[in-house]
Amino acid sequence: MKIAVLKETRAFEKRTAATPETVKKLAGLGFAVAVETGAGHGANISDQAFAEAGASVADHANCLAGAGVVLKVQGPEADQLAGYARGTTLIATFNPRQNTELVKAYADAGLTAMAMELMPRITRAQSMDVLSSQSNLAGYKSVLDAAAEYGKAFPMMMTAAGTISAARVFIMGVGVAGLQAIATARRLGALVSATDVRAATKEQIESLGAKGIFVEGVKGIEGEGTGGYASEMSDEYKTAQAALVSSHIAKQDIVITTALIPGRAAPRLISAAQVDSMKPGSVIVDLAVEAGGNVEGAVAGEVVMTAGGVKIVGHKNVPSRLAADASALYARNIFTFLNTFYDKETKSLKWDFEDEILKAVVVSHA
Ligand code: NAI
Repeated sequence: MKIAVLKETRAFEKRTAATPETVKKLAGLGFAVAVETGAGHGANISDQAFAEAGASVADHANCLAGAGVVLKVQGPEADQLAGYARGTTLIATFNPRQNTELVKAYADAGLTAMAMELMPRITRAQSMDVLSSQSNLAGYKSVLDAAAEYGKAFPMMMTAAGTISAARVFIMGVGVAGLQAIATARRLGALVSATDVRAATKEQIESLGAKGIFVEGVKGIEGEGTGGYASEMSDEYKTAQAALVSSHIAKQDIVITTALIPGRAAPRLISAAQVDSMKPGSVIVDLAVEAGGNVEGAVAGEVVMTAGGVKIVGHKNVPSRLAADASALYARNIFTFLNTFYDKETKSLKWDFEDEILKAVVVSHA
């Protein structure tokens, strides 16, 4: 069976769905792997490195010709499906809950489309969980982006010329990205605090040496929906949270927001008035900016400077800003997924559509 790894075409996308490491493993299982010319360039992987790992490197049309499986980071656009034979399996991310038109295009083209962001959060699928592998890196990078925009140091420094005080960093939303942001900010020497709607995160925050900022005594504190994700909160909770957060935000130098609710717009956590309450020179990084934004005034793809001197950072596709590591982890997630459905006897893939993993990720078939 032939597996094609195509070059990413969307703006701000430098990652790739396979690396020489995973190409070598796939070739070892008996797959013919074709990689599109230049597919790895954004992640510092040369065509030659792919060829040495056992791939044939070809142009787009030749790469796709005869492929049973296509690997991508971001799914192709509807007008890019011409070379895909009916029955091809597409493995990528394409936000199917929001991009329903695209899913229909895949179905009309006869593709078996698998959306990796729908991977169930079960122990067996943890090593295939692309949201986790990419969010972890985004959380790390968000702190570095904040540090780069901040005109002061993070750690406390005692120098002959006097003492520099530590930066105060507040992380809102403590999932995979938020936990890594806490750990990274701590390593840089900041004074870190964090909050989430899920009460279970309180212990995690404290175990990383940060201070938990939590609403207490209000109904709906648990905040946990299905699969460990957040659920929508009560109005009473939202009001109490806003008041608590308001007084805290005004004292912070850096705020990083990561809050998402699957299948919905990102919750609004910081109002324009709260942004204005921060000191000039403060920095806010909104990691949810592409999902609608946690911060009023954040603009996707821009660093906005408010009249009050606060910078709001809204970089797009933050994992792609660490393209080499993000590709390495994504590619391993995909390899583990393929290996799970590998049939040793036929040396090919055997999809069991009753498997709970495939039940979750397959959005179109036949
Ligand atoms: P996410 O990316 O969907 O959301 C980020 C964080 O924002 C979450 O912690 C969420 O509770 C929080 N949030 C939502 N609304 C908020 C609000 N109004 N105010 C403050 N915070 C708000 O979450 P992510 O990172 O995907 O993780 C969700 C959960 O899944 C975590 O408990 C994580 O540990 C768990 N998980 C489990 C895995 C497994 O068992 N295989 C794999 C990865 C994550």
